[in-house]
Amino acid sequence: MSDPRTALVTGAGQGLGLAISTRLARDGHRVVMGDVDGDLVAAAALCLHAAGHDVTNVAFDVTDEEGVERAFAATLGEGPLHVLVNNAGIISRTRAEEFDPARFDLEMLVNLGGTMRCSRAAYPYLVAAASPAVVNLASVGSTFGLPHRLGYSTAKTGIVGLTRTLAAEWGRSGIRVNAVAPGYIETPMMLSGFDSGALDRDRLLSRTPLMRFGRAEEIAAAVSFLVGPDASFVTGVVLEVDGGITIDGTFHRDERHRSTVPD
Ligand SMILES: NC(=O)c1ccc[n+]([C@@H]2O[C@H](COP(=O)([O-])OP(=O)(O)OC[C@H]3O[C@@H](n4cnc5c(N)ncnc54)[C@H](O)[C@@H]3O)[C@@H](O)[C@H]2O)c1
Repeated sequence: MSDPRTALVTGAGQGLGLAISTRLARDGHRVVMGDVDGDLVAAAALCLHAAGHDVTNVAFDVTDEEGVERAFAATLGEGPLHVLVNNAGIISRTRAEEFDPARFDLEMLVNLGGTMRCSRAAYPYLVAAASPAVVNLASVGSTFGLPHRLGYSTAKTGIVGLTRTLAAEWGRSGIRVNAVAPGYIETPMMLSGFDSGALDRDRLLSRTPLMRFGRAEEIAAAVSFLVGPDASFVTGVVLEVDGGITIDGTFHRDERHRSTVPD
């Protein structure tokens, strides 16, 4: 039997990163779970390990270039890396005119810079692998202007450009680079929007053609597809997994409930 493929997931301690790690482990990958919160990711990895999966955990901050390189060297050694998932992310909600510039810089540094840093650090390990693939986490904020999320939305729009640029450049080395753009998925990050009152549950649901929030496992399934052999000719795309929220042109009050719709 061939050696298992190795995957590294950032921000793997909870939420989507944990669901993606779980899915990739079930798919048969050896998974390196990274997170800035060392205790959180150690506990998450312990659970997956107890379930019989081949996982290791490592604490590193995606804003720290040397820390990223050390963590990659410590967990990957000389070995190839088949899959990188740039998932670590942070968000805050403040009116644009009051947005703290230092916070803006931090959101760029984590969400966009982290993806750039981890991708570059992974490059030597990816080029040494068979059929390597990178998946970056975009957002509905890559399509919409999200009021009160100036740092987040700007960074997530940048993820689209970064994904296309790396796909164009690294395709020549056989590395596929794609993005998944989740809609509203029930994770601690989204629930924080309800807690703070920034998100309106009913309005969100009424704007979503599938009329529900997503599950973390549904994002993990999209990542699994993009890094697997069925996506072997797919690169540079942003796969929206959002229940249709970014394609909905419904503006009639009752349109959602009608079987025939006036134009
Ligand atoms: N949940 C959603 O509805 C949703 C929608 C669109 C996009 N996303 C994106 O998916 C990704 C994961 O979102 P989530 O909802 O699971 O978030 P989350 O807040 O639940 O988890 C994020 C994880 O990233 C880690 N992290 C934060 N800063 C880090 C850093 N500097 N270095 C390393 N790790 C760091 C955190 O410790 C945490 O474990 C993010 O990039 C987010 O923008 C989420």
